[in-house]
Amino acid sequence: MRVFVLGGTGLIGAAVVRQLVGRGHELFALARSDASAAKLDQMAATPIAGNIEAPEAWIAKLGRIDAVIHMACDFNTDMEAIDRRLMDALLPALAARLQRPRFIYTGGCWLYGATGNAIASERTPFRPLPAFAWMVPQLERVLACKEIRGIVIHPAMVYAGDGGVFGRFARAAAEGRAVPVVGSEAVRWPLVHSEDLADLYALALERSASGESYIGAAVDGFSVGRIARAFARRFGARNEALEIISEDAIAAEFGEWARGRALDQQLSGDKARRELGWVPRHLDPEGEIARSSGGPD
Ligand SMILES: NC(=O)c1ccc[n+]([C@@H]2O[C@H](COP(=O)([O-])OP(=O)(O)OC[C@H]3O[C@@H](n4cnc5c(N)ncnc54)[C@H](OP(=O)(O)O)[C@@H]3O)[C@@H](O)[C@H]2O)c1
Repeated sequence: MRVFVLGGTGLIGAAVVRQLVGRGHELFALARSDASAAKLDQMAATPIAGNIEAPEAWIAKLGRIDAVIHMACDFNTDMEAIDRRLMDALLPALAARLQRPRFIYTGGCWLYGATGNAIASERTPFRPLPAFAWMVPQLERVLACKEIRGIVIHPAMVYAGDGGVFGRFARAAAEGRAVPVVGSEAVRWPLVHSEDLADLYALALERSASGESYIGAAVDGFSVGRIARAFARRFGARNEALEIISEDAIAAEFGEWARGRALDQQLSGDKARRELGWVPRHLDPEGEIARSSGGPD
């Protein structure tokens, strides 16, 4: 397939680009800088210059494409206004195409709110983290648009070696600082390795019916305290004391969206396993941390 991706240089997007190129798809990707274009070139994707903040400038330049995968987000700016404007321009342009392109929209685990001991599935009503509530009407538009084949993927918390959501733990442990945990060490995160998640995007692209949503969770819920201590141990901390950071402090540092790190959640990836044949391979994050010699994968 000829696939156009938004966010192809990101944590999720780069893994997806590599996975799809490896499966023989032809990749085109939006690049907002020369550095992003060079990264895409290295991954054998053709860069298309443009910014999600100004979609009209590049939408008309898209040639024949069979699918679009949207994984772009700038967490520093007005995510809601940017995404709404992007979709206002992109959806009608895709809907006007004769071949009914596939469109995969990226939601996220934080749309399900804190679940406690329950395990959320795709049938669980959304209770979004306020900073990401704007995503719900956006993904509903994608699923309702009959002129495209809309699919939504909700990634769990994404890690890759010492990177992604494990990055803060790894950096603190490597520098000999107490490993920071937001809220409480009992908080559970649903987890997925970026390579497993990329495999799910590829399967959804190739096999999913339109109108479907899939949760990309390889591990339903894993205590952040255990992850943080695993990093402390690996870097030889004399004691494994953690630094508990308040939700307000993390929001002040990164923005309101970062409150999601305090959500105690469990999510199931069973639907993707059952319907798409997804077989995530990274199921033991604690063991991986212990065995790793460091760095992103
Ligand atoms: N990471 C997770 O654990 C997780 C979990 C659930 C859901 N999600 C969702 O998944 C999506 C991607 O997350 P991520 O972690 O992969 O993010 P990321 O690593 O920060 O990557 C963001 C991507 O978006 C691109 N981008 C940002 N602003 C842009 C702009 N104005 N114009 C063009 N491209 C732009 C970046 O390009 P540059 O190379 O130019 O910076 C990069 O490729 C987000 O919507 C996020 O909410 C993430």
